[in-house]
Amino acid sequence: MDQTDHLDELLTCRLDYARRTIEPCSIVIFGASGDLTARKLIPALYHLFVEKQLPDPFRIIGFARREKTHESWREEMRAALQQFSRTKEADPAKWQAFASNLYYCQGEFGGEKAYRGLAEQLAAFHHETLQRNLLFYLSTSPSQFAEVVEHLHKAGLLIKDDTEKNWQRVVVEKPFGHDLRSAQELNADLTRYAHEKQIFRIDHYLGKETVQNILMFRFSNAIFEQLWNRECVDHVQIIVSEKLGVGSRGGYYEEAGALRDMVQNHLLQVLALVAMEPPVTLEAESIRDEKVKLLKSIRQFLPLQVPGNVVRGQYVAGTVDGQPRIGYRQEPKVRPDSNVETFVALRLFVDSWRWSGVPFYLRTGKNLPLSASEVRVQFRPTPNVLFAAQCGPKLDANAITLRLQPDEGISLRFNGKIPGASLQLRPVRMHFSYDSEFGAYTPEAYERLLLEALAGDATLFIRRDEVETAWSIVDPIREAWANQSLTDREIYQAGTWGPPAADELLTRHNHSWRNPRPIA
Ligand code: BG6
Repeated sequence: MDQTDHLDELLTCRLDYARRTIEPCSIVIFGASGDLTARKLIPALYHLFVEKQLPDPFRIIGFARREKTHESWREEMRAALQQFSRTKEADPAKWQAFASNLYYCQGEFGGEKAYRGLAEQLAAFHHETLQRNLLFYLSTSPSQFAEVVEHLHKAGLLIKDDTEKNWQRVVVEKPFGHDLRSAQELNADLTRYAHEKQIFRIDHYLGKETVQNILMFRFSNAIFEQLWNRECVDHVQIIVSEKLGVGSRGGYYEEAGALRDMVQNHLLQVLALVAMEPPVTLEAESIRDEKVKLLKSIRQFLPLQVPGNVVRGQYVAGTVDGQPRIGYRQEPKVRPDSNVETFVALRLFVDSWRWSGVPFYLRTGKNLPLSASEVRVQFRPTPNVLFAAQCGPKLDANAITLRLQPDEGISLRFNGKIPGASLQLRPVRMHFSYDSEFGAYTPEAYERLLLEALAGDATLFIRRDEVETAWSIVDPIREAWANQSLTDREIYQAGTWGPPAADELLTRHNHSWRNPRPIA
């Protein structure tokens, strides 16, 4: 460590001293036999335990339909941890200590008896706070969210009462509804039995370090925020590309499609953080107020405007990294004539003083050449004199790229003279990499989210008006696509950057997609 590193360490500024301590509690996971529990939730809870971030005592109850004993569920979870943990081998002693807090409760989500069983299980802990401080994690099929919450309430386990000295909270997985109407209904059902402040709607993108850093980057640095507006920004590109295809999730994906699966939540959340105004304080409600304000200022489409601003696509067979991939219509549980989109590109406008006239291009797709999530803020070109006059479009405009994953980092692109006797310019890059600055510490988003829910901090969760506003942005798009078959311009080969129509969308406006690149 050199002298400057040392000084930088001294300047570390801690903001969460006021964070509430997490009280002893029980976490009940509904859908304990599911994929999310095995892949994400149990590994995240185990890591929190190892890092001594869980309260003492705590209990975790897995609730699901299948017959299992406490012991057999623990064994299953241990195998899952070996497979999915971010730190490969689990320490046997630590696992034993963690697993002694795991319990299983078998029951039908719709039957009262099961909830009596759950209440008995909680009572058997013989500890008041373990019985009354309860985090219910709904990782079931979305159609069961409402009934689980109703049963919990009726069984006296979920009390809609803020003033009570103990707390109960409900964490709700996505998808939260499938359109505005169903989201409103679900909100009405949930808030019948729980206050809004007891409901924690998940968007796992908000648990990612780099997504949280968007606000820090913007509002703790004076130089960038000066540029963050229509005077300086030409356009913004947000991309979440995935190398994987739909695979075994065809059944779900046929109902969702990329618009519901990715745009309504992850991409709009990233957009909100990139474009929102500074919040008045760092409190959850101030931040969420600004996000909602931003989402409300996104110009909504009339059905006729959709074709000129939104492109969908679907992959056909191709190759990714030299490996053959089947087409979407050949994936299991997908209709052979499906028109469901596996790719979406949008051109959005934020009708606010700051962003008026600046296009925001969003793009996401499956079976693309690279898995990468990025936000690229493309600045306006220089005036057409001097270098620009001579180089023309070859003179690259400046850009800041926030690389959200993988190879997390931030790059600034500007032009520099190539050393030598001849006068030549080309773009160069200043790059900050999380790994080289902070070491390879990348906790899973779910660790952070579970911790926040246990602490009762809703900043990283989606508020009722936020989820509804996001649906109101995507609903008209879906309506415009209804009953429209895909055309050839909307088909792309697996392993390419999307259909021709997506490129045309930008070239029509004198822009072009900047594809993420592997970072060496
Ligand atoms: C999920 C979607 O919400 O996010 C998946 O349902 C998608 O289809 C995933 O693959 C992407 O998340 P991440 O963290 O891998 O970028």
